[in-house]
Amino acid sequence: MKIAVAGTGYVGLVTGVCLAEHKHEVTCVDVDEKKIEKMQQGISPIYEKGLPELMKKNMDRLTFTTDYKKAYADAEVIFIGVGTPEKVDGSANLKYVYTVAKQIAESVERDCVVVVKSTVPIGTNDKIENYIREHLTHPVEIDCVSNPEFLSQGTAVRDTLHAARIIIGAEKEKAGNVLMKVYEDFEAPKILTNRRSAEMIKYASNDFLALKISYVNEIANFCETVGADIEDVAKGMGMDERIGNKFLKAGIGYGGSCFPKDTKALHWLGNYYDKEFKTIKAAIEVNDNQKLKLIKKARQYYSSLEGLTVAVLGLTFKPGTNDLREAPSILNVGILLDDGAVVKAFDPVAEAEFDRLYPGKIKYCELPEQALEDADLCMIFTEWEEIKNLTPQTFCNKMKKPVILDGRNCFQIREFEDLPLIYDSIGRRTVRNI
Ligand code: UGA
Repeated sequence: MKIAVAGTGYVGLVTGVCLAEHKHEVTCVDVDEKKIEKMQQGISPIYEKGLPELMKKNMDRLTFTTDYKKAYADAEVIFIGVGTPEKVDGSANLKYVYTVAKQIAESVERDCVVVVKSTVPIGTNDKIENYIREHLTHPVEIDCVSNPEFLSQGTAVRDTLHAARIIIGAEKEKAGNVLMKVYEDFEAPKILTNRRSAEMIKYASNDFLALKISYVNEIANFCETVGADIEDVAKGMGMDERIGNKFLKAGIGYGGSCFPKDTKALHWLGNYYDKEFKTIKAAIEVNDNQKLKLIKKARQYYSSLEGLTVAVLGLTFKPGTNDLREAPSILNVGILLDDGAVVKAFDPVAEAEFDRLYPGKIKYCELPEQALEDADLCMIFTEWEEIKNLTPQTFCNKMKKPVILDGRNCFQIREFEDLPLIYDSIGRRTVRNI
């Protein structure tokens, strides 16, 4: 089928490339000319496992352009995959979605289905459909279908090609069937529902996962108080199939472009309808506090952070991505710098991006061992393999004073047991040998 995809961020680009893999003719549209030029050469603008290879493999079915008019004019299906960042009040900012909707209205010259993949508040598909219909410049029929995405960064290609489910929210059977045809060769179970339910499934899923993380983090914090071990507790809980063992990893809180924004957006929407989501509110609050957990721990070991050399290991919000959005490292490094600490950082992919946030203020190291050199404190924010592969002895050998604060529980406690150091992680007993 002839498909256009608006937006070449994680959602748009991965969707476009995976649709091309399933033999569709796909045109990816973006306003960023530099990005488009790169992609025309087969270079992926995002760090995502398997994506460059898949892009190259399907280049004969992929077109990258800024010319939206041409791309949308005769497309049978147009996917909207642009961002819906949060506004200051927590609600979703739909300006990019509406910009694309207007461009679609002005460009389409044949009947087509517009698919909203971006995460949008419940009821948005209805509005977008009306908006496009009102602004059409050709006498064509358009229908909007909600088709939320469930890809995770780092496993985006796998999550799309081997999705756990494909949700299709349509008001008309005909429009729903068009999407069924688009996904004909995808093996995932497909659920056909109405648009509002599809929109709700997306928010309900993301917010449930965020809640699960905040819950386990709160349990972890309590484990520290009562002397239990969160790793064992989570393992024991996860063996119950009704609970499940995924997303029970305690840490310094969730980040990324989705959970923080989607929890706030649904909470905002609830308030808008005078139906406050108390559980989501709690998840947000717990997460905000959790992000400060390592700094609070650091202050237990040093009365002042001024002049200390701090090794910051991992900057991204999780491994496998160069995305820094809402990464706990950002807030923590800001506090460290404000307190007068000297920050030496290691991250395998996010150095350039991070430097834009704190230009010239941080010393970046190519290896984690270099960041540890002469440090008074080490803070771990991301469980990259390079960090997990460090040996406990390395911390002792390299650091001036080995105080290790592990925000991702990268190591087994017993590995540190007999060494002259402090190893303080999340929801577990602290090894304090100095
Ligand atoms: C999330 C969802 O997992 C996807 O299903 C969804 O499609 C996506 O948002 C989206 O809405 O676009 P993503 O933000 O890429 O995906 O990353 P996750 O793997 O879900 O991790 C989010 C955050 O939660 C990370 O900071 C991670 O470290 C943290 N996390 C995750 C934990 O602290 N503990 C866990 O057990 C799992």
